[in-house]
Amino acid sequence: MASKPTLVTAALPYANGPVHIGHLAGCYIPADVYVRYLRLKGDDVKFVCGSDEHGVPITLKAKAEGITPQQVVDKYHLMMKKSFEDFGISFDIYSRTSNKIHHETASEFFKTLYEKGKFTEQVTQQYYDEEAKQFLADRYIEGTCPNCGNEKAYGDQCENCGSSLSPSDLINPKSKLSGNSPVLRETKHWFLPLNDYAPWLREYILEGHKHDWKPNVYGQCKSWLDTGDGLQPRAMTRDLDWGVKVPIEGSTGKVLYVWFDAPIGYISATKELLPDSWENYWKNPEARLIHFIGKDNIVFHCIIFPAILKAHGDYIVPENVPANEFLNLEGDKISTSRNWAVWLHEYLNDFPGKQDVLRYTLIATAPETKDNDFTWKDFQARNNNELVAILGNFINRTLVLTGNYFEGKVPAANDLSAADTELIEFLKSSQKQICDSIEKYRLREALAIMMDVARAGNKYLADNEPWKLIKTDENRTATVLKIALEVAAHLTVIMEPFLPHTTTKLRKMLNIETLGWGKSVAGSNLKTGHQLGQAELLFDKIEDEAITAQMNRLENIKNEKKVEAQNSESAEKAEQASTIAPQKAPTSFDDFTKMDIRVGTILEAERVPKTDKLLKLLIDTGIDRRTVVSGIAADFKPEDIIGQQVTILANLEPRKIKGIESQGMILMTEDKDGKLVFVTPSRPVDNGGTVR
Ligand code: 2FM
Ligand code: ZN
Repeated sequence: MASKPTLVTAALPYANGPVHIGHLAGCYIPADVYVRYLRLKGDDVKFVCGSDEHGVPITLKAKAEGITPQQVVDKYHLMMKKSFEDFGISFDIYSRTSNKIHHETASEFFKTLYEKGKFTEQVTQQYYDEEAKQFLADRYIEGTCPNCGNEKAYGDQCENCGSSLSPSDLINPKSKLSGNSPVLRETKHWFLPLNDYAPWLREYILEGHKHDWKPNVYGQCKSWLDTGDGLQPRAMTRDLDWGVKVPIEGSTGKVLYVWFDAPIGYISATKELLPDSWENYWKNPEARLIHFIGKDNIVFHCIIFPAILKAHGDYIVPENVPANEFLNLEGDKISTSRNWAVWLHEYLNDFPGKQDVLRYTLIATAPETKDNDFTWKDFQARNNNELVAILGNFINRTLVLTGNYFEGKVPAANDLSAADTELIEFLKSSQKQICDSIEKYRLREALAIMMDVARAGNKYLADNEPWKLIKTDENRTATVLKIALEVAAHLTVIMEPFLPHTTTKLRKMLNIETLGWGKSVAGSNLKTGHQLGQAELLFDKIEDEAITAQMNRLENIKNEKKVEAQNSESAEKAEQASTIAPQKAPTSFDDFTKMDIRVGTILEAERVPKTDKLLKLLIDTGIDRRTVVSGIAADFKPEDIIGQQVTILANLEPRKIKGIESQGMILMTEDKDGKLVFVTPSRPVDNGGTVR
């Protein structure tokens, strides 16, 4: 029976940096293993991907590198494409979202939804930078986190405490473009009312995919759908000049939200690959759509994109979204900005030709159900103790012995022993198990079974000792090597999805073509007399020096960061210590006497909710008791300052701070560490005494 058309996608990576091992482990290798397996089975499968070239990650990178967004995407698109090719990620197409076909496809898609009345228009207030003359995306706004006081929180998230924010939550927001305080301005956007799709999404995911989606994926979706917080109308357009222009009137200066246009990139890439038959993969109810992604993309692929497809009406929705968790490196989160990563282009320089060793390690330690750690020691152990000692050793012994005893020709098998038949049976049963595991997206398990086959082959040689047997029984030696060669031939099938480069090498050594998943007949793929090719080592040992060099590189990065942090801390301290504010411009005595500065006492003090810096104080000024909001909470606990005498500028115009009217200002100075200090009379005096 012909297979259903299957479209496999891997997340379109932002073209703003090179590819690292976290990317590979997260989705590109899993997707590649799955696709290679389906292809070997002879299924109708297409594998699409491409660079995500829009959105703020690109414009921020352009600013950081001092080049244009177009230059950023041109540079990284090529670099990423090459890394994927080098590591055998077998896309049928690796496209890019700056292509004309993508702009047209995304634009048409938006127009269709607009014309069908699927959007609501909303005017909201958003931060605008008057100097840069543009609205500010969340990532372009920085300020103090209201939860933890981190002064470098972004408009959408505080990386210090992990809380998710909106720009209006930030205290003292600043534009990252000009450094100025942004102002609020009205702007119109087109929203997808996700709330309208809640009943359908619940049915699609909670009822439809409870048992076949991975627990980490299903769980994240369920909590979104259960709390309902995420199911609010979501803007599908942005005020930005980089991206797909909004194709309707009155939308100058606006582009499609990158999370609207990027998943449509999967459609444009399919169109580019198959101009005449792409609809067979997108509009055919029989077709299967599978998205491989990392866990940070779950909501977009499981909830938002399906809602967009559903709103359109002509498209199928994802059958599965097998997302992986994150891979860490030597115990720390992989981070591009901290250079805490193993970059693929650097790996290839250091370990030329060893792409499959990395593929093997990343599959064996894939973060399938929880975050996992990549360590160089583990990488070395997997190479030396598994690939070299088991798989490589088995193949090498088999090929070299056949070369020595039978002139490199496949010998004829004679009577099979029980152990021979058992091994052949194991080839069959393990192949079924590998299918089953891959189809459930359990690739670690599948890889372990593949390795068990090599292990069984190795054990078979050790048990039968053909190198001894040849002295007494050439017939039996022929049978043993014929069976070992059949195991090797079988390995060219079951290891292809995981280790494609090694498979090509092994096929050459066996001098055979691709057998195909269903076509391989365990135990009888090689004809008697078939001439084998040259034996070569499949893997070689990785020495301690190579691993130490990698670990030293990481250690140096850690040390450099530490020194940088120490330097900037001492520079900051030195700056604080040496900053004595210059004298201000002269003022008149008259102006000075206009200020009513007097002595008061703090009667009550409490924190202003949802702020880190503000205290609400009740002050006895001698003339009255009044409320003053003061930004001193970072340095004083409310309970410690009750009874403290202070000086207060009493006739400062009242101002509202966080909804509280503040009637005056407490005068403070700072010590050399920047800590606030009250300015108080040198001995207690009556409240109300004026300062002259
Ligand atoms: O997280 C990312 O790198 C995004 N560029 C993924 C986009 S996936 C899809 F929607 F295109
Ligand atoms: Zn915070």
